[in-house]
Amino acid sequence: MNCPVKIKDLGFRYDRDGKNILNDISLEAKRGEITAIMGPSGSGKSTLCYCIMGIIPHIYGGELSGEVHIFNKPVLHMKVPEIATKAGIIFQDPDTQLFSPTVEDDIAFGPENLCLERNETGRRIKKSLGLVGMGKYRYSDPGCLSGGEKQLIAISSVLSLNPEVIIFDEAMSQLDEESRHRVKSIIKELKNKGKTIIIVEHETGNLDIADRLFILEDGALKEKSIKNFRTRWV
Ligand SMILES: Nc1ncnc2c1ncn2[C@@H]1O[C@H](COP(=O)(O)OP(=O)(O)O)[C@@H](O)[C@H]1O
Ligand SMILES: [Mg+2]
Repeated sequence: MNCPVKIKDLGFRYDRDGKNILNDISLEAKRGEITAIMGPSGSGKSTLCYCIMGIIPHIYGGELSGEVHIFNKPVLHMKVPEIATKAGIIFQDPDTQLFSPTVEDDIAFGPENLCLERNETGRRIKKSLGLVGMGKYRYSDPGCLSGGEKQLIAISSVLSLNPEVIIFDEAMSQLDEESRHRVKSIIKELKNKGKTIIIVEHETGNLDIADRLFILEDGALKEKSIKNFRTRWV
């Protein structure tokens, strides 16, 4: 089966002498589903996202065991630009993802790095801004936008590479109520288009859109019934 994300027996620690952050983790994220991963601060949620994105081991080193496959290909054997066309990640703080003088430059960054034709890059900027309802901000300075608007631009810059897998690493935690709702409805639209979504959260507030729930604690990942969880916590 062509599984978008398949993790098998993953273990990781940053330092050889340090403790294992991830222990024997297995997970399959499916097309058209929103998989939620929850856990306390420092439990290794971002570390797990880095492993899926190949940021570990391609950018951050450490001791890695087990396997991470994206569409049946080991991330270990993929180059970072190839991974970026298959999986994208949006972080908590959009300022870490925006660094250009205009919104369109920020969104063009990914497509230009893939050496796409100018016209194609232009089409992708328009389309990905349209998907997040931010078309009129194409020529704005990202620095002048609100936190919520910046996060929509960060999402748009990821969507410009048209990845099948999209990870939201606590991407709603700094947003006000209105922006949070906007981002959640974009996530639902992406799911309905058949994208594979992983949302990483440390609170229960956004779990209503999730199809499956996993808890990461003490290095272990365990699936919980999302129904029971909602009645218990929400
Ligand atoms: N680059 C790094 N080098 C060493 N330790 C790190 C690094 N990044 C995170 N850690 C440690 O790994 C643990 C898990 O961090 P993280 O994955 O960011 O957790 P979470 O996203 O759940 O808050 C923490 O103890 C953190 O201090
Ligand atoms: Mg984190």
